[in-house]
Amino acid sequence: MQNIYDNQEFYEGYERLRANGAGLNEVLEQPALRSLLPSIQGASVIDIGCGFGDFCRFASASGASRILGVDPSEKMLGVARDQAKPREQYLIGSFESLSVNERFDLAVSSLALHYVKDIRKAFQNVAQVLKPGGAFAFSLEHPIATCGQGGNGGWLKDRDGRKVAWKVDSYSNEGMRQSHWFVDGVIKYHRTVSTIINELVDAGFRIDRVLEPHATPEAEVKRLELLEERRRPPFLLILAGLQAVEQADAVDA
Ligand SMILES: C[S@@+](CC[C@H](N)C(=O)[O-])C[C@H]1O[C@@H](n2cnc3c(N)ncnc32)[C@H](O)[C@@H]1O
Repeated sequence: MQNIYDNQEFYEGYERLRANGAGLNEVLEQPALRSLLPSIQGASVIDIGCGFGDFCRFASASGASRILGVDPSEKMLGVARDQAKPREQYLIGSFESLSVNERFDLAVSSLALHYVKDIRKAFQNVAQVLKPGGAFAFSLEHPIATCGQGGNGGWLKDRDGRKVAWKVDSYSNEGMRQSHWFVDGVIKYHRTVSTIINELVDAGFRIDRVLEPHATPEAEVKRLELLEERRRPPFLLILAGLQAVEQADAVDA
């Protein structure tokens, strides 16, 4: 696992992006994710890839009874821990190694799954930490956005640098992509929409809702460049429910 968020140069770039609100988190991804959620009041919540703990603090303010944030980055968790409220706890961990002997009502993950190589294992691990009937809400970079990263993807531009169209390339070639984001060699993993959905179903989940959001109308009025996010979907969000395992029919004695 790369753990790029503990790379000092990357971390400083990401911290700046989040501090000045220039990313898509507050204007697009967070409102969409929150619109998917069941009631948090009284629920136990695990956030995998919690980063600075934004969602954990939101869950705390929304009345969650217990909140566990898990992330592989010491630097990200350091910030989360500094701001932690009494019901929040933060642990080093990842989708691949979730050492949690507890079951939650709700699992959440924002923009972390595209860093995970083995999504099958990741979804199985989430199923292990959810109560039967529990919900899993997550976002990741949209496969239309990840497919060409580091290769022939991205915007097709005209001679004057105007964006003509988004190139979708190598969509069915799943696997590692390397790109420059603050530093060279940032590793993400591309998977098709069908793989993501089918792996969820194989791990015991039912798909309840799917979103491919653009920015909120209020944000689009303030930042016109956000209208561009309507041209191709930057993120995919899914709300899934863990199916209760059916009991074997009782055999009459
Ligand atoms: C884009 S940040 C998002 C942070 C936070 N969820 C948010 O929305 O503000 C991605 C986070 O995923 C974490 N991450 C990277 N690889 C991961 C993995 N294999 N399992 C869990 N989290 C991972 C990173 O350390 C980082 O904190």
